[in-house]
Parts: sequence; structure tokens; C-alpha cells
Amino acid sequence: MRIIRSAKAWLRLRKGGALRERSLGFVPTMGALHEGHLSLLRRAKRENDAAVVSIFLNPTQFNDKKDLLKYPKTLRADMRALEAEGADFLFLPDYRGMYPDGYRYRVSETGESSLLCGAFRPGHFDGVLTVVMKLLNIVGASRAYFGEKDYQQYELIKGMAAAFFMATRIVPCSIVREPDGLAMSSRNALLTSAQRRLAPSFGRILSAGGTPGAIKRRLSAAGLEPEYVEERWGRRFGAVKLGRTRLIDNVKI
Ligand code: PAJ
Repeated sequence: MRIIRSAKAWLRLRKGGALRERSLGFVPTMGALHEGHLSLLRRAKRENDAAVVSIFLNPTQFNDKKDLLKYPKTLRADMRALEAEGADFLFLPDYRGMYPDGYRYRVSETGESSLLCGAFRPGHFDGVLTVVMKLLNIVGASRAYFGEKDYQQYELIKGMAAAFFMATRIVPCSIVREPDGLAMSSRNALLTSAQRRLAPSFGRILSAGGTPGAIKRRLSAAGLEPEYVEERWGRRFGAVKLGRTRLIDNVKI
């Protein structure tokens, strides 16, 4: 696996010919990798000649500073996992490399980004869309893979790629869950063992059905503090807090 730390180095590599005429699959991440991320990488490898993963903990999408500070950082283990899965390239930029403009320029969406998570995380999707546009422009992949775990994010990125005639195809990938049903997430590592035992009831209650109001009441009764439960795009979405950790999930209806 080759590690590339700047846009310039990556562009040099791409122009150099090693990647010309080859399809490239791209998996953007913020690290603390788990099976969810690796399932995206496997698909990227399967559907393309080469696969590139990026790890960049993007500060502009964290509306809450504390959330950024405590976000799990496991770079060494991440690199080992990527090597083991056969990633061809790891793009590992730093803040100055990604934001030479100091975030003066940004991409924002004015409709769906204020719903669901957007209503509770002001500025979050501006940060996501901006960094994803930068990454897609740099990497120049044929396809980029996004998890349905963050379905609203996937919808907004798909919309951005269409609105700006971007060349990369945006591919959705199914949610990977723990054996007990909890959707895998880097933030699961922040749960205490007692919270971890409660967490699987989130997905169970969300998929059992009922009105959003009834589901919220059941979540509260189970010790999960609901932020929202809403139906959209043929899915039911939920966000809950378990102590200071925020979890999201969604199920098809
Ligand atoms: P991150 O949370 O690291 O997730 C990277 C990718 O992995 C996203 O597309 C996410 O939807 C997917 N993913 C996470 N958990 C998953 C699961 N259990 N099953 C399937 N896919 C899963 O999402 C981000 O990073 C960032 O917002 C990013 C797009 C990288 C921009 O900074």
C-alpha cells in the first residue's frame, strides 16, 4: 500500500501513468476503521482495477469541538487493516493540505441538509460536502463508495455530484451491523460497557415500526435519549444519545 500525503503527490502519481487507463475506486473515511469501512473497500476493489482509501478527520464537519477531540484515532491499526485488505493507496492529507483557503470557500446545500441530522448539527453538512468535493476532485476516481449508515450524507453527496456535473459515480453500500444488530460506527468505541449493552435496542425499536412518536417513547423507556425519529426516502431514520455519545441508524420501511 502506498501512502500519499498531499494532493500534489497524488496528482503527480496519477499523471505519471501508473494509474492511467485504470478504473479507480475511492473510499473516503475519517479513520477508526471497522468492518463497515472495510466492506466499502472490498467492494471498491471488486469493481475497480485499484482502490484508494482516504483517512482525514475533517474538523469542519464537527459542530461540537468536544466530539472532535474525543473522536477515536487509531491510525496504526487502520493502516494494518488496510494493508491486510489489500488497499492499493492510502491518501492521508493534513488540515493545511485540505484547506489552503482556511475554509473560506465551502459547498452548501439549501434544502435537505437542514433536515434530520442537519437540524441538530448546524454546519455539519457544509463541512461534509466541502471536504468530499475536495477529496473527489483530488482523487479523480471512477467510483466513490458511501455507506447507507449515513444515508442523508449519501443523498446529499449524490445530489452534489449531479448538481456540479462531477465525474465520479457515487455508489451506495448497505449497512454493516454487529451480530447483535448494532450498526457499526467509529463512535461505538466510546460507549461504556453498560451503554454498549443497551445500544442494540436502538436498531430493534427502529425496525419494529409504529408511529415516530411511539418509537420515540419506546426509545426513552429503553434508556436511549431520542433526538429525532422521522420517515423519509422510504426509510425510517433515528438519532439517539447514550450518555454523551450520539448514535444514528436507519431502516427500510
Ligand atoms: P466515516 O464516519 O469514517 O465513514 C466513512 C464511510 O464509511 C461513510 O461512507 C460511512 O457511511 C461508511 N460507514 C460507516 N459505518 C458504516 C456501516 N456500519 N456500514 C456501512 N458503511 C458504513 O462518513 C464519514 O466518515 C465522513 O463524513 C466523510 C464522508 C469521510 C467526510 O469526511
